[in-house]
Amino acid sequence: MTSLDPTAFDAVVRARHSVRGYRPEPVADAVIDAAFQTALWAPSNCNVQPWLVHLVSGARLRRLGQAMIAQAQGGKPAPDVPMDTAYRDEFRKRQIGSAVALYGAMGIARDDHAGRTAAFLRNLDAFGAPHAAFVFLPEGFGTREAADLGGFVQTLMLALTAQGLGSCAQGALSLYPDVIRAELGLAPGPQLMCGIAFGYEDPAHPANAARTDRVSLAGMVTRHA
Ligand SMILES: Cc1cc2nc3c(=O)[nH]c(=O)nc-3n(C[C@H](O)[C@H](O)[C@H](O)COP(=O)(O)O)c2cc1C
Repeated sequence: MTSLDPTAFDAVVRARHSVRGYRPEPVADAVIDAAFQTALWAPSNCNVQPWLVHLVSGARLRRLGQAMIAQAQGGKPAPDVPMDTAYRDEFRKRQIGSAVALYGAMGIARDDHAGRTAAFLRNLDAFGAPHAAFVFLPEGFGTREAADLGGFVQTLMLALTAQGLGSCAQGALSLYPDVIRAELGLAPGPQLMCGIAFGYEDPAHPANAARTDRVSLAGMVTRHA
């Protein structure tokens, strides 16, 4: 194996953060393709590569976003895979920590329900990003293959980071899969797991000042020697 630079890799991993405000200009196809070419090398059970991506850009993405916002205002979410909303114990604390970081950066108070709703709805328009990748689990696969898909999602986001792009994985973009299937003319079967907004980060957007932390190594890894 050629010698690789662990410091450079660590820098890419730490440079990636969830970007929730974008500059409007599109990303060149060659840059997008380069990131996806890298992401294709994500590992999976028996190399089945259980992911399908629908890439939506520009005016088409804005139309899709408006359709999902209209659906959100009129009806309940109906994701292909139910969301786990009842996080417990330390997981709940971490969830609250990320919300405090985000709403704090955006200057939205805890009891500002209108502000929070507006911030949530920005999700459905992919935070104004010029591109979004909708990632589906092909029909017949389950939890194990969904884990593979998660590895693909992270590999793609790191590849986007390495190309100088910002991104945000979004469960929120999976809440109205029927709207997406209708807008894009997709057949039923594959399950929509998440969307990934991406493009050039708008450094002036307040949401992009939010930063999260992580538990210590000892809090996560138990060694058995
Ligand atoms: C599968 C997945 C789904 C996510 N869904 C959303 C979402 O719907 N909206 C959002 O603003 N952030 C979403 N996030 C971003 C997380 O909140 C974020 O990764 C976490 O708080 C850690 O922050 P960081 O990405 O800046 O390191 C999601 C992340 C993942 C991996």
